[in-house]
Amino acid sequence: MSNILTDTHIDVENIRKEFQVLHQEVNGKPLVYFDNAATNQKPQRVIDALVHYYQNDNANIHRGAHTLADRATAKFEETRKAVQAFIGANEAEEIIFTKGTSESINLVASSWGRKFLNEGDEVLISTMEHHSNIVPWQMICKERGATLKVMPINEAGEIILEEVEKLLSEKTKMVAVNHASNTLGTINPIEKLAKMAHAVGAKILVDGAQSTSHLEVNVKDLNVDFFASSAHKMYGPTGLGFLYGKRGILEKMPPYQGGGEMIKDVSFTETTYNDIPYKFEAGTPSIADVIAFKQAIDFINELGKENIAAYEQELLAYGTAQLMQIDRVRIIGTAKEKVSVISFEVEGIHHFDLGMWLDAKGIAVRTGHHCTQPLMDHYCIEGTTRASFAVYNTKSEIDTFVVALKDIITKF
Ligand code: ALA
Repeated sequence: MSNILTDTHIDVENIRKEFQVLHQEVNGKPLVYFDNAATNQKPQRVIDALVHYYQNDNANIHRGAHTLADRATAKFEETRKAVQAFIGANEAEEIIFTKGTSESINLVASSWGRKFLNEGDEVLISTMEHHSNIVPWQMICKERGATLKVMPINEAGEIILEEVEKLLSEKTKMVAVNHASNTLGTINPIEKLAKMAHAVGAKILVDGAQSTSHLEVNVKDLNVDFFASSAHKMYGPTGLGFLYGKRGILEKMPPYQGGGEMIKDVSFTETTYNDIPYKFEAGTPSIADVIAFKQAIDFINELGKENIAAYEQELLAYGTAQLMQIDRVRIIGTAKEKVSVISFEVEGIHHFDLGMWLDAKGIAVRTGHHCTQPLMDHYCIEGTTRASFAVYNTKSEIDTFVVALKDIITKF
């Protein structure tokens, strides 16, 4: 393969050695895994860290007065520091571990929303939000008598900033937007949106589920108030994510859930709450997953985010160029700035059928509305077929996919 060592310094064959799952046949064909926007695969070091923890260190954290508990606590807190450095936060205390991006957004909507949203206030989201960044805001707006407003997008799938300007006012209290769209791949201009939100006194929350494994993210440079992401989309374990929030804002927010860990003192008449981040981490967290997540962050850091981004952009350009040549294929999401996601329709073939036929050829893609039903309504479609690439994918896999797609299209 000519693309093994590219000028982006990504040695893809070597990287693939860390991912046993990729070296298998599915339906008698070598697996081509192009469902990375749903979840990406885990390098061996992440799997080893999970096993190592349960074999050697398993203990509850923060409370034990014994060696194993100290060891588990130290490793758990090391990951918090790794996340802090990874996204450029000021302090480790600004990182809260959650179940994932969805829980992070629910935490902000419930806790911040209940305290700071009032009747007549507005929350502004975009047309291309995942349901996770729509429904929690709908719920809290309904409860608080606030209104949900939507930033429009153009045909390419880019937010129309001039329209955003018109929607923002002193009534806007929160702008909640994704960094990159899971369906379209669009990379949104977060720095600009943050400036615009702050100019009217609003906060900005960024859903970073689709950006953290693809793009350089620095929450201070972006100047966002909240940033959420999921470990499983960053080569880490499932069921884990984090929320970044500026200290000053997190300290003003009430707890999200009650329980152990989030308290200082409890009596039957009164409870005082712990400091951040523990105030928001009730109950025993997913300790093994947090510890293993550090390995995923190290994996990304070792490769270098710039190298990953450059390599994935090559895959995106290569795949897009090929798909554009195929009759009856229409790409949905043609923004100038995209992460490595290609959503498309094929005239005359339902996306569910297409997904099934591709699977029969060993190719894993996602089909459907991708949890962005309002976005599907915007394009007047029911769903798409989506191929999404990670750093271990190759141009030769794209060739296999294109051959398979053409074969299916000529038959149906
Ligand atoms: N949000 C994930 C996706 O886009 C599950 O596939």
